[in-house]
Order: sequence, then C-alpha cells, then structure tokens
Amino acid sequence: MSFKLLSTKKHHLSHEITDKRVFENRRKIIKAAAGTVIASLIPAGVKAEIKKYADVPVGPYSASLASTDYEDVKNYTNYYEFTTNKTDSTVLARALKTSPWSVTVAGEAENTGVFNLEDILKSNPLEERVYRFRCVEAWSMVVPWIGFPLANMLKRFKPTSKAKYVEFTTLYNPDIMIGQRGNVLEWPYVEGLRIDEAMHPLSFMATGMYDDELPAQNGAPLRLVVPWKYGFKSIKAIVKIRFTQTMPATAWNKAGPDEYGFYSNVNPDVPHPRWSQSRERVLGASIFTPKRKTEIFNGYGAEVASLYAGMDLKKYF
Ligand code: MTE
Repeated sequence: MSFKLLSTKKHHLSHEITDKRVFENRRKIIKAAAGTVIASLIPAGVKAEIKKYADVPVGPYSASLASTDYEDVKNYTNYYEFTTNKTDSTVLARALKTSPWSVTVAGEAENTGVFNLEDILKSNPLEERVYRFRCVEAWSMVVPWIGFPLANMLKRFKPTSKAKYVEFTTLYNPDIMIGQRGNVLEWPYVEGLRIDEAMHPLSFMATGMYDDELPAQNGAPLRLVVPWKYGFKSIKAIVKIRFTQTMPATAWNKAGPDEYGFYSNVNPDVPHPRWSQSRERVLGASIFTPKRKTEIFNGYGAEVASLYAGMDLKKYF
C-alpha cells in the first residue's frame, strides 16, 4: 500500500501542455475523425469503442516515464471495502453503481451542500483542464491518471480562513461493499490533507486513467491521487468532502497510529515499523528484477518539500 516516486522535469514538459484552443480544435477533429472512421469501417449495429479521455492533454506535472501495463494497474488493487485480496477486487467492485453520484460538501466553507458529481464536473472549466498525470506507487507504478487538480474543485466551495484541513470520506454501503461487513478497518474509509497540501497543484482528483473511465476497483467515480504520499492517502469513491479546523482522524492512522502517520509522505529515511521503505518493487516487474531506491517525496521534492519546511519529518511521518 504505497505510492512512490517519479521525477518531474518541468522544462522538458512545457511543450506538452496544450494551448486550450488547440486542444479544443484537436478534440473536435479527433471526434469528427473518429466518427468518420467508425461510419466507414464498423458494420452497422456494432458499437465502436471510443475512449472517453483519448484526447486529454498532458499536464505540467507529468513525467516522461513509461506507464505501467494497464492490465497490472487495474487487476492488482487495494480496495478493502470489498476485500483484502488484490485481485478479487476487480470482480467484486463491479457491483458498485458509480452514476449518478453525489458528493456532500460540509464544514468550514461558504458553498456547502449535496452536489451531483456530473454538475460539479460540468459547471466549472474543470473539464478543459484535465490532464494526464503519472504516478508511481512501496509497489511502485506509473499511472496516466485523468482528472483535474483538486484545488480547482475545492475553490468552488469557497473554504473559509478556518479551513485548515480537508477530510475525504468513501461511500459506506455494506450491502455492496462486502468488506465493510467485517472490521479490517473502521468504516467508512476516511483520509485527509492539510489545506495547503490539498491546494497544491500536484494533488489530483482522478475520474479516469489510461484514456478511459476510472475502473470501479481503482476508485470510480472520484478518487484522490496524492503522488508524493503513500498510496493509502489516495482515497477511492469519495462521497464527502469536509473542511475542518482540526486534523482529521484517518482510517489507517486509527488502525495503526505508530505505523501510518497523517502525513505519510514517501520518505526512504522513515522506515515503517515492520519494513524498510528505502527500496520499492515496480509493479509488473519479475521477482528477479532488483528493487529500486525510493526517492524522497516520490521524486517530487522540488515541488513539495517547501510545504514541510522546518518540520521534523521523522516526527510528523
Ligand atoms: N480507498 C478506499 N476507499 N479503500 C481502500 O482500501 N486503499 C488505498 C488507496 N485508496 C483504499 C483506498 C491503498 S492502501 C492504496 S495503495 C491505493 O488506494 C491503491 O490504489 P490502486 O488500487 O488503484 O492501485
């Protein structure tokens, strides 16, 4: 359960950011072209597969790394609401209906209430800003996530100056999420970020991956991705966002306060009490492939280290 590393070379990437107009034109062209191809090649009655996010541009924080194999990312997941087995979740999560979906916004903000996810996505220029994102997870992986910076969404709710943290909650429905009938964690799953972490442009809300919708087992329809932190911070199937004055009590911290800190920044120098975090295995690699060295903040030190200036990262792990 952990996200890991990747380095961001902004100067190599600026050319990858697509100007909005170019992007929209390209989008139209691709859609039109796709339509033509389908009309000419696909026999009537056969539904062509057009990937929902095929024309989403690469974002400024993406790194030039090869993506992990899609099959590995979608068939090896952690989703304790369904099971602790990393492969069974693929089948069990199919029972989850991810549309329509509502998100409750509460706490220290002006614009609170229950929102339809479709409306949140539509009524904001969010869709235009979605970009690809690569993230490596103590197994590590590089996932081209599709979504938008979390800050874009949070600003809509106008957090007040009292909002020091943001708490996220996953759906609770033991009829469908059969793992919630047991007590492997305290349900519902809760995660949190400090407000400045949440507003950092690397904190990301994913609605898709690999050009397409987010598979249920990877957290559809709305999943957090915090690429400089261990993977458990990246909470799936979010139904509630609450702005708080005090640090939220998170599911893993409650389950093991000495093992899982609130911050959980990727840090090779802070071992987990039961294992080292200094090396990681790349998901999909053979067991004979040597593990590689973990990078501080998963390789995003240049972007996020300043958030923790002066903090003892061994104490605030
Ligand atoms: N979110 C919820 N609601 N339930 C979970 O069990 N597992 C976490 C995180 N988000 C989890 C969750 C853990 S431990 C990890 S490592 C990542 O999701 C895994 O994401 P992935 O399954 O898409 O690789």
